[in-house]
Amino acid sequence: MAKSHEIVEKNIGLMIVFIIFAISLAGLVEIVPLFFQDETTKPVDGLEPHDALALEGRDIYIREGCHVCHSQMIRPFRAETERYGHYSVAGESVYEHPFLWGSKRTGPDLARVGKLYPDEWHRVHLMDPRAVVPESNMPGFPWLADNVLTGENTGTKMKALRMVGVPYTEIDISGAKAAVEGKTEMDALIHYLQNLGTVLSFKR
Ligand code: HEC
Repeated sequence: MAKSHEIVEKNIGLMIVFIIFAISLAGLVEIVPLFFQDETTKPVDGLEPHDALALEGRDIYIREGCHVCHSQMIRPFRAETERYGHYSVAGESVYEHPFLWGSKRTGPDLARVGKLYPDEWHRVHLMDPRAVVPESNMPGFPWLADNVLTGENTGTKMKALRMVGVPYTEIDISGAKAAVEGKTEMDALIHYLQNLGTVLSFKR
């Protein structure tokens, strides 16, 4: 036994093979069961896929890099739940592709920011954050108010998401363009923000 251990320790190639084997096996044991657990694969009660306008808003959120400063994942610690509300649960994210949990927080977590402020607050804040929060170092995004959406690709995006399991209906898809056309990017982004974390109605 001692001998075989020595063989592995003195042979770096063999050692690498065993290390890769050990890590892969441990990874499989930890990760694979999550694919089959209801807790991680089933949507929480009442969860709906983002409507057409919110879906566009989410893409703008990603394009503008909001996720670089804002996480969307409240951890189950007192310091977090006191500040942001109930911790995030996996079933809230099953329709998110890709999810935007993140861990970098230059700004506050936004997982439950929906309905926390009126639309008008967001509008002013996104144009110029310092107009409402004087010490803010968040950049302004004033061009969002000028960019008008056509809705040209919204239905196609929904179809793509449907292929990975988001339950969009034919009516959602055929109505997507009309729901989005003519709205500004600002409207879409605020609509998206106002829906964040509202499925589970926890008091914040
Ligand atoms: C450079 C980092 C940075 C980027 C990029 C950024 N933010 Fe912020 N954000 C902050 C900081 C810091 C605050 C806290 C101060 C404030 O409210 O302005 C904040 C606050 C917020 C708040 C208020 C949250 C609360 O609970 O009070 C919202 C909503 C928000 N940001 C949305 C966005 C959106 C949407 C984008 C992308 C268009 C974005 N942020 C991009 C740093 C950033």
